[in-house]
Amino acid sequence: MDCEHPMSSEQTIKLFEQYVIPNYGRFPVSLVRGEGSYVWDSEGNRYLDLFPGWGCNLLGHCPPPVVEAVRQQVATLIHVPNTWYMEAQGLWAKALSERSFGGQAFFCNSGTEANEAAIKLARLHTPKQRYKIITFEGGFHGRTLGSTAATAQPKYHEGLGPLMAGFVYAPYGDLEALKELVDEETAAILVEPVQGEGGIVIPPDGFLAGLRTLADENELLLIFDEVQTGCGRTGEWFAYQHFGVTPDVMTLAKAICGGLTGAAMLTTAEIAPACGPECTRPPSAAILSRLGPVWRPSR
Ligand SMILES: Cc1ncc(COP(=O)(O)O)c(C=O)c1O
Repeated sequence: MDCEHPMSSEQTIKLFEQYVIPNYGRFPVSLVRGEGSYVWDSEGNRYLDLFPGWGCNLLGHCPPPVVEAVRQQVATLIHVPNTWYMEAQGLWAKALSERSFGGQAFFCNSGTEANEAAIKLARLHTPKQRYKIITFEGGFHGRTLGSTAATAQPKYHEGLGPLMAGFVYAPYGDLEALKELVDEETAAILVEPVQGEGGIVIPPDGFLAGLRTLADENELLLIFDEVQTGCGRTGEWFAYQHFGVTPDVMTLAKAICGGLTGAAMLTTAEIAPACGPECTRPPSAAILSRLGPVWRPSR
């Protein structure tokens, strides 16, 4: 791409028509630059961005501290697989832990993956016969298959069935209806503390506290999907802090990376060990010894 002489919007749209799967509805404008609250298209028009990337650009477009941090990091070390440690990731986990309810983080790439991790954690943490997760009508949890099944909106399910089993849908805000749905197979409740895609729906007074009580009484995990509401979007670091109700698990994405891709699932240090390393073992000693001298660290 020539940053000085970008293609026209029309040319870029033609490129998309030929090479990009048309699974998203898009406005007929090709954006080339962003700064703070403004973006520019390839024709030089400036727009005030009231939409900031579904909440990803909470700090505005190209915030200088983020740009500088990214510049430094990619010039130093771009990719570190999960088989190694990395200071920046440890510090990131610490920052999230200190601003929320303590505990530990699992990092991934998108909100839907963070919710997949939470779904797995709920099943791993609770006894085997407990696998059901209660979610809420009007909610949205992502587009991978588990998160799609968790999303209680039929329009997202069309043509995809059979969906992953184990999700039970409840009306948002109705504690009495919810109580009827809990049984000995229920593992968790997954809820947005404020529904985003559902239309910015603030929960009725006492709803989140009622969920906490119900979860405690029935030994369920209370999972807050804060992919939309987290990282300062509602004025607190996390929306749950407005309500004085702390979840067992929280999922984050969007604003967490100032516009870059990234996400996390947080949970307490007591629950976290349910996510063991069995599936993500580092290379065995046998493999390492076969690597021979190449393997030795150099200084
Ligand atoms: C509440 C909520 N959860 C999960 C997701 C999925 O996040 P992502 O698009 O990063 O996969 C979204 C996306 O809009 C969301 O609003």
